[in-house]
Amino acid sequence: MSTDAIVLLKDDHKEVRQLFREFEQAGENATARKGQLVRKIIELLTIHTYIENEVMYPEVRDLLPDVETDVLEAYEEHHVADVLCMELWSMEPDDERFDAKTTVLIESVRHHMDEEEQEWFPKVREGLGRAQLQEIGAKMIELKETAPRKPTQPSALKKAIDALIS
Ligand SMILES: [Fe+2]
Ligand SMILES: [Fe+2]
Repeated sequence: MSTDAIVLLKDDHKEVRQLFREFEQAGENATARKGQLVRKIIELLTIHTYIENEVMYPEVRDLLPDVETDVLEAYEEHHVADVLCMELWSMEPDDERFDAKTTVLIESVRHHMDEEEQEWFPKVREGLGRAQLQEIGAKMIELKETAPRKPTQPSALKKAIDALIS
């Protein structure tokens, strides 16, 4: 199995995009279903942003100083997603703001994933060798085992707070 970092992250994106579509197609009255989908979306995003923040972004920033601006913007976009995920996690799906907040999360994360896939990953692929990308990927697979799955877990909270104070 390939451990190429970009392949792994794109697979995660695909899974997230599929859940976004399911949410959008669920219909006005599918409250319980939408609640389940949002919990699943939040779990996937919590793990994904964590491994990117802890492994992918710092490693790439170190190896490719040229992409520093992209990395800094990506951290900020993750922070926006973290805040929305935390708010949604404590909301009930029948709350009048639940769908609206989810829609904003979807729009913002889609934009972020598009930028990663269309602009950032090609630069990283060009700048790093296959071996480096496989090594980074292997580290992310390992970290996934212990990554937070819920925004209320201490390691997820620490990440959100670090973004505010650093
Ligand atoms: Fe990201
Ligand atoms: Fe990503």
